[in-house]
Amino acid sequence: MRILSGVQPTGKLHIGNYLGAIKQWADLQNQGECFFLIVDLHAITVPYKPEEMQKNIINTAIDYLASGIDSTKSNIFIQSKIKEHTELAWLLETITPMGELERMTQYKEKSEKSPNAGIFSYPVLMAADILLYKTNVVPVGEDQTQHVELARKLAKKFNNQFQETFPMPKAKILKTGARIMSLDDPSKKMSKTGSPQSYICLSDPPKEIEKKIKKATTDSGKEIRYEPKTKPALANLINIYHLFSNKPIKEIEGQYKNKGYAEFKKGLTETIIQGLKPIQEKRKEYEKDPEKIQKILTQGKEKAEIIARKTIREAKTKMGL
Ligand code: TYM
Repeated sequence: MRILSGVQPTGKLHIGNYLGAIKQWADLQNQGECFFLIVDLHAITVPYKPEEMQKNIINTAIDYLASGIDSTKSNIFIQSKIKEHTELAWLLETITPMGELERMTQYKEKSEKSPNAGIFSYPVLMAADILLYKTNVVPVGEDQTQHVELARKLAKKFNNQFQETFPMPKAKILKTGARIMSLDDPSKKMSKTGSPQSYICLSDPPKEIEKKIKKATTDSGKEIRYEPKTKPALANLINIYHLFSNKPIKEIEGQYKNKGYAEFKKGLTETIIQGLKPIQEKRKEYEKDPEKIQKILTQGKEKAEIIARKTIREAKTKMGL
């Protein structure tokens, strides 16, 4: 079984990326051959600072490693280092209906700010990432469902139009954690495009976490009860508590019965700090050894490239090229 996923190197990773995606990657490492990409070609579809890109790429690699991705089990590599990603994206573009891309929620959200063709064809490049390695399982957060669905449609279309080539990839989305919401607006998902108060980075120091949780929006009322429909802000915080502590939601509700938000937020802050502590400690170790990071990325690239070249040769031959 092949497992593949990726994150854009657009700054520091936040707990949404971790709880929705990377945490489950770590758990999947013993179940198949894993490919974890740093998708820099996707990151350049929105405004960015070129002088910060390499630092962001290395930071993302460190976040992967510190979160438990083991480079002896998984291939970690940079998307743009393997040119076959863009090559397959072009081949797939020729069988992608425009209407499919126009329907993409993320395209509708992002195209106003970044009206470029890269934003439009972004999901085809993602499909290429997935299909290039004949991936079976794609562990992602809920917001990527539509994109993985396109990869499935393109695999099917390619197989029908030419010859059987790609297996059907399947998104793997967690029951809880799939959608961590913003701390200042529970109607929006936690994202790096929000204000710095709206997300917690994996590398945030304890004081910063305390400040952000103190400021986090809560709902009216005093009781600590998990009611996503009527108390979405509190439900999001309880969910984060649950995911970092592994305590059932009912137990958290019981623990804070007759206690106010202040007490709950104190407990949540401590839970997040403790949850991130091992990641932050590992990060410090990796930060001391930039050569090791480069070596891991090169190794990952070399292994992935062999498969990428083989798939491209096969796809081109089947397309008559
Ligand atoms: P990106 O960089 O936006 O996010 C990386 C991963 O984090 C998940 N995620 C969340 N999960 C829960 N709650 C949140 N608030 C939250 N925010 C982000 C995302 O679902 C994702 O799994 N297009 C992809 C990157 C990509 C990719 C791929 C993924 C490119 N090629 C191939 C899988 C396979 C993206 O922009 O992710």
